[in-house]
Amino acid sequence: MAAERQVLIVTGAGGGMGKAIIQEQLEKGNIVVGLDLSVASLTDLAQDTLQCFEVNVLQEERVNDICKQVFEKYGRIDGLVNALGIAQAATPIEQVTMDEWNRLMDVNVKTLFITTKAVVSYMKERQKGSIVTIASISAVRPRPGLQAYIASKGAAESFARGMAIELAPFQIRVNTIHPGPADTQMLGQFAAQGADIEQTKQSVFVQSVPLGRLVNPSDIAGAVSYLLSNEASMVTGTTLHVDGGRGL
Ligand SMILES: NC(=O)c1ccc[n+]([C@@H]2O[C@H](COP(=O)([O-])OP(=O)(O)OC[C@H]3O[C@@H](n4cnc5c(N)ncnc54)[C@H](O)[C@@H]3O)[C@@H](O)[C@H]2O)c1
Repeated sequence: MAAERQVLIVTGAGGGMGKAIIQEQLEKGNIVVGLDLSVASLTDLAQDTLQCFEVNVLQEERVNDICKQVFEKYGRIDGLVNALGIAQAATPIEQVTMDEWNRLMDVNVKTLFITTKAVVSYMKERQKGSIVTIASISAVRPRPGLQAYIASKGAAESFARGMAIELAPFQIRVNTIHPGPADTQMLGQFAAQGADIEQTKQSVFVQSVPLGRLVNPSDIAGAVSYLLSNEASMVTGTTLHVDGGRGL
């Protein structure tokens, strides 16, 4: 008998990793609901198993409404992938404003609270679920000038571990992926203001990866597939480094 299609919610859907994650899940025959500020990059994926919403995930009521609609339509939410995020340009702390700090914490952390809270009751009802959060290897292998981003990704990992223990009795697994420097448009945004982005990619980022290349979005999509799958049914509260050894 064919396995039941999973119903998945993916944030950051229009981004480099989000799109690769969605593409792989659609290829597996799963049903995906993508959330992003812009979903324009997904038009070439349009098919009846993909539904996209242009939404700021900080808008709690809208996220709750979308999850409710999804549950009413399909009768289940099997997985949540938190892939949205914003970068920080490398900046000494004295020059980081409170607004910049708050924005990084809001987008990279508060959204996790919003999406997790929005899906958990549906997952509990079916005693089944998998939540995957894309954090960053920088949380454990920092670079100078990224203090707010690093703190937000550390919080993302701690939040996932907290949810993993809270939700284990309901058979809901919660895991984190720490990507290394990845080949998406975000990477250039970590360069200091005025720095040559292409040169920084090569001289700073590629150089820092022992396996000698940037992470591809498809590398992350593969790790997400594993954590969503039954093969990972005893994996919870863990962090998978998909970083070419950057964390070593
Ligand atoms: N690219 C890297 O080098 C790298 C490395 C480690 C971790 N990460 C993390 O991986 C994740 C995916 O990053 P990416 O490389 O695909 O970046 P990306 O910039 O291509 O995608 C991020 C997406 O998040 C969306 N987004 C931002 N704020 C949002 C909000 N409030 N509501 C809805 N959508 C919002 C953006 O519109 C964008 O499409 C992020 O969490 C990022 O921090 C990236």
